[in-house]
Amino acid sequence: MAHSSELIANDIGAYLKVHENKDMLRFLTCGSVDDGKSTLIGRLLYDSKMIFEDQMAAIENDSKRFNTTGEDFDLALLVDGLQSEREQGITIDVAYRYFSTENRKFIIADTPGHEQYTRNMATGASTCDLAVILIDARHGVQTQTRRHSFITSLLGIKQVVVAINKMDLVDFSEQRFNEIVCEYQAFAQQLDYDVVHFVPLSALNGDNVVNASSSTPWYKGETLMHLLDNVEIDPSAKSFDQFRLPIQYVNRPNLDFRGFCGTVAAGSVEVGDTVISLPSGVESKVKSIVAFEGELAAAHKGMAITLTLDDEIDSSRGDMFVKPQQRPKSASHFEANIVWMGEQSLQPHREYVIKVGARQTVGRVSAIDYRVDVNTMERIEAPQELALNDIAHVQVDLETHVQFDLYDENRETGAFIVIDRLTNNTVGAGMISGIGGATNVVWHATNVTKQQRSARKNQKPAVLWFTGLSGSGKSTIANAVESLLFKRGYHSYLLDGDNVRHGLSNDLGFADADRIENIRRVAHVSSLFTDAGLIVLTAFISPFEKDRELAKDVIGDTEFIEVYVNTPIEVCEQRDPKGLYKKARGGEIDHFTGISSPYEAPQNPSLEIDAANTSVQMAAEAVVEFLTESGYLT
Ligand code: ADX
Repeated sequence: MAHSSELIANDIGAYLKVHENKDMLRFLTCGSVDDGKSTLIGRLLYDSKMIFEDQMAAIENDSKRFNTTGEDFDLALLVDGLQSEREQGITIDVAYRYFSTENRKFIIADTPGHEQYTRNMATGASTCDLAVILIDARHGVQTQTRRHSFITSLLGIKQVVVAINKMDLVDFSEQRFNEIVCEYQAFAQQLDYDVVHFVPLSALNGDNVVNASSSTPWYKGETLMHLLDNVEIDPSAKSFDQFRLPIQYVNRPNLDFRGFCGTVAAGSVEVGDTVISLPSGVESKVKSIVAFEGELAAAHKGMAITLTLDDEIDSSRGDMFVKPQQRPKSASHFEANIVWMGEQSLQPHREYVIKVGARQTVGRVSAIDYRVDVNTMERIEAPQELALNDIAHVQVDLETHVQFDLYDENRETGAFIVIDRLTNNTVGAGMISGIGGATNVVWHATNVTKQQRSARKNQKPAVLWFTGLSGSGKSTIANAVESLLFKRGYHSYLLDGDNVRHGLSNDLGFADADRIENIRRVAHVSSLFTDAGLIVLTAFISPFEKDRELAKDVIGDTEFIEVYVNTPIEVCEQRDPKGLYKKARGGEIDHFTGISSPYEAPQNPSLEIDAANTSVQMAAEAVVEFLTESGYLT
């Protein structure tokens, strides 16, 4: 306000003091230049008198130069700080702007509206308490309105103000306003918002932005500024009050002092409280809480503190302090919504650095369950990869257990980022939505070991992974190999596609996602069987390279032997032992490999069999010979 600038000029100390004790609302503005977003932000700043004289002069000059609003100066120019944006008329990155009123401080995350900037928008939204979604009154709810709403909701924003702008261009029509409200409400039912406000306004003229408009006598609600100034900040802090302190840094200036530093991610803590350090579970009491201001009796969410404890305990960066009885989840697997931000696409099973809270570990996306089309909110099941700006629901596997909460419960401890191991760039941001796999499970070492089991059988365990088209001869050759091994006294087991689909995988069909899951199960069963000391033979089409890679990861490089049964599709189709090719050609079977579903031939198999020109017996002998030569058979 005007007095702020006076205070800044005359008594900066007093200004800062007043400022310090105000609470802060972070909000996101979504919309495009055409919706008048920059003008709206400019208007908020201007009408709340946060623009100073020299800036005004600059805007007037620029307005003349760019000639965007005729005689009036253009408020958008105040906001469109980036040079290229001003020249192209678009917004290209997240820009943070700060202003304040008597009551509150504000941070505006101003993000671009275009589809290709989903990642920027997600970045901006991740720390915001509220979103202002702009709609042009002439156009109503647009594709991008849905996109912005979906992303903000996904990122956990619970309060929204729908700013219906350019009301002056629809004669401040109450009917038009109501139409848009109905349209938006109908669509927003699918989203996870708690509160949605609607304000009719004209950013250009200032109606209902800071000051109530006389042109909308029918509107009994508050102005945008009044809403921003009074909405509740972070209501979720009330519902989730469990103490969480991820340790960023251990401060040990001398032997007598050991302080654990971090920002309280949830709840609060007092001197004397019992805390435990995770993952170790070691318990101690809080001796002191040190902050920038000095020693405190208590600290709460958002405060950067250093804790000292009564006991010498061994915690390090990445660990988390919590209170007993309030443990977070602990797992090496979770499900999440992810926004892909990398120029290079996300590849399932590729290793990335994954940072959950302060803990950094290696992990990978083991499956992409579905991708969401941000414009229509439609789900695309089991895509092979994710491109820049894609949003998807995924399964994440980590090398170690990490501690977290669900994003819905607490954003700070429920979010993670994905970092490319080579470039060190952040390539993804995720929100943990569930635990998916088993939690709190630990691998139990058994008394009898894999080595003992295989020594008793006098053999080295291995997995012969046969892959090829349906009818290529995988099962037949694998059977012949097993017979040869059996004759020579080896202990083996043959996992056959059709057989496994009778039981273990009888809930799965042939859509990509089902095949991926089928192969994942088989990979794990094979791994258990090698643990039993067996030689395993698998005969599955396993059409996707990535899934065979996964199988190799699960089973281990040295024990995984890929055998490509390479039979041309024409030959398979001619043989057609089960009559399935005929049916598939007749349209009776969907997703048939080689016809309506792809087969990705192995690039580098351990062994390749030209099964169209080799007899079953010769093929089987070639496999056994390979095993002998490679040292698998003694
Ligand atoms: S995989 O893709 O998941 O590896 P799997 O090897 O288990 O497939 O099963 C393949 C067998 O299922 C084929 O040999 C064939 O008998 C039968 N089958 C039925 N429908 C299909 C289909 N749409 N595509 C391929 N195989 C099918």
